[in-house]
Amino acid sequence: MVRVNENYLKIQSSYLFTEIAHRVKAYQEKNPSAKIIRLGIGDVTEPLPPAVVEAMHKAVDDEAKRETFRGYGPEQGYDFLREAIARTDFQARGVDVAADEIFVSDGAKCDCGNIQELFGMDVKIAVPDPVYPVYVDTNVMAGRTGANEDGRYAGLTYLEGNAANGFVPSPSGLKADVVYLCFPNNPTGAVATKAQLQEWVDWARAEKALLLFDAAYEAFIRTPGIPHSIYECSGARDCAIEFRSYSKTAGFTGVRCGYTVVPKGLMAYSADGKPVELRPFWTRRQTTKFNGCSYVTQRGAEAVHSPEGQAQTKATIDFYLENAKIMKDALIKFGYSVIGGTDSPYLWVNVKGDSWEFFDRLLCEANVVTTPGAGFGRNGQGYIRISAFNSRANVEEAVGRLAKVLA
Ligand code: MLT
Repeated sequence: MVRVNENYLKIQSSYLFTEIAHRVKAYQEKNPSAKIIRLGIGDVTEPLPPAVVEAMHKAVDDEAKRETFRGYGPEQGYDFLREAIARTDFQARGVDVAADEIFVSDGAKCDCGNIQELFGMDVKIAVPDPVYPVYVDTNVMAGRTGANEDGRYAGLTYLEGNAANGFVPSPSGLKADVVYLCFPNNPTGAVATKAQLQEWVDWARAEKALLLFDAAYEAFIRTPGIPHSIYECSGARDCAIEFRSYSKTAGFTGVRCGYTVVPKGLMAYSADGKPVELRPFWTRRQTTKFNGCSYVTQRGAEAVHSPEGQAQTKATIDFYLENAKIMKDALIKFGYSVIGGTDSPYLWVNVKGDSWEFFDRLLCEANVVTTPGAGFGRNGQGYIRISAFNSRANVEEAVGRLAKVLA
């Protein structure tokens, strides 16, 4: 008799964005003429930058000729990409990250989900609330939690994010071994200052804890002085792993590519208290379970780091940020308080009521899809998240419809 992994029984039956997709599909089936505008899942709408398209075409041609054909690539990524990343994403900003500390993958979601395999089953995990569900669900699946009681899993520590702390929890008084942080934040769009991140790094070093820093949205930062990388903080190489993504940076949600930085000398501890380096563990994990991101994709990602690629991706992100500004200004005019949307593609809107009811209202009355804040945790109740990833025409149309429903 096949026994299931009982941890899956603890978890909500469907992933948040799957549940939303079901509701939207059901509505569309009942209302086939409704022109639904999707501002829910953070999925990009603008095409790949021309520099990326050109590089990928060329890479396909490489694969078409015996002399340039590539089969299995290195599981950690090709050197041409790892070197481009180290140079433009870190060294150009004065941040000490080397090419051989970068592990290319098929996306930050997978890496954020897989990384927990490196840690003991009894580590104390802390997550912010509200939180990107992947950090929580993957630890539930692995068996690091008890049951879900009232929207929270027993055994996890929740860091309270709220309007009072601007959704940037502090480590003060925290006892934990592994902490997930995400800035600019998904879902709230909040950013952490250098001083706030430095406090986390100082705390982690003092506690021999590890920060798992999700920087998937760093390319949206426009405010000077806001760190793009945790490694801008002194001492972070001793206590942090960082995740990056090409999805929102360069339109790769469908293409799939991201990377994880595991610095040399970053340690965790064995049961007898001996330090063990994590980078060889991650290398071992990836070489065993992952066969690398495709050559064509990595050539496309490499082009993101070229001068043309950098200019083109910046222009697209500026476009999404302008979408965010249009919606944020409108919602504020309608009397809602909104955070995010400045250094982030997400608006976090206080709806002064139940998240799912508000979601349903906007779906049915405005045919606009958002994401209910409650889906990101208990502290998300009373909020919705609106994504700025869409065409200008759809954003303007959505604002017009919201005006009719909300103003
Ligand atoms: C989101 O909408 O939160 C993201 O698109 C989900 C993801 O990146 O996996």
